[in-house]
Amino acid sequence: MQKRQIIIDTDPGQDDAMAILLALGSPEDIDLLGITCVAGNVPLALTHKNARITCEVAGRPDVPVFAGCDVPLDRPLVTAEHVHGKTGLDGPELWEPKMPLTDGHAVDFIIHSLRRHAPGTVTLATLGPLTNIGAAFRKAPDIIDRVQEVVMMGGAYFEVGNITPAAEFNIYVDPEAAEIVFKSGAPITVMPLDVTHKALATKPRIEAFRALNNKVGTFAAEMLDFFERFDIEKYGSEGGPLHDPCVIAYLIRPELFRGKQVNVEVETQSDLTRGMTVADWWRVTDRAPNAMFMDQVDADGFFSLLTERLARL
Ligand code: RIB
Ligand code: CA
Repeated sequence: MQKRQIIIDTDPGQDDAMAILLALGSPEDIDLLGITCVAGNVPLALTHKNARITCEVAGRPDVPVFAGCDVPLDRPLVTAEHVHGKTGLDGPELWEPKMPLTDGHAVDFIIHSLRRHAPGTVTLATLGPLTNIGAAFRKAPDIIDRVQEVVMMGGAYFEVGNITPAAEFNIYVDPEAAEIVFKSGAPITVMPLDVTHKALATKPRIEAFRALNNKVGTFAAEMLDFFERFDIEKYGSEGGPLHDPCVIAYLIRPELFRGKQVNVEVETQSDLTRGMTVADWWRVTDRAPNAMFMDQVDADGFFSLLTERLARL
């Protein structure tokens, strides 16, 4: 597998933090160019604080972390403290990060990085609302053809929505940005709820992180002890779905996932179905396929990878 140069766009969030830790524990697979933060689970001031805390717990205060958009392109911000807690990273004891934000806006970092690196060599790994990406594509359309792949956590089809009956949170928060991305023509791989709800952080899996007996393993277990309560209550599932790490695991071991190349469009007009990802799974329209929409994961393989890589930090 060729090492990937990636930018992680994120709204930490416990599951975002797990994804960042997986990337930092995988230097032979991932060259992390930088982390761009966006408002989502919690306001921007907290998402960029949480991203820096995550880098510090991994012993990586050198990672460039940028602040990005603090509101969606055309709508007021909707947050998810009910899932992630007031801090966005409830569970472990938190601190004021020592590492500073890197100067410059996240959108400009995305644009400059895609212009600076050879075409087709930078992957955008998106874990939150697509505001920063949509803004970058709108501000500098020339970068779209230079994107190697957008690998996103977002959307839902057979699994239906988690923030409304129709929509998954990341797409719901900024449907206009999502529409820009899905219509851009960039290669897209989607990790929707259809697949992330099959990657459940069950008790044994959380205990495997705790048993690592390193700072990262304890931090991960404490985050997930908190994060799981919402989904167990809501879905009666045996654990909280680890949404965002699916994006990074795909970059390291794509064979863990299965899906289908289909057309995906985003609802932006209706209040009832705002943010719905309408996937033409059975190809009943002549709309051209524009995304690999994942719906299967080897969950045991996924958690073994996660545990093995966190053990390295
Ligand atoms: O719907 C799940 C997604 O919304 C995850 O990325 C979670 O972190 C939140 O951003
Ligand atoms: Ca997220």
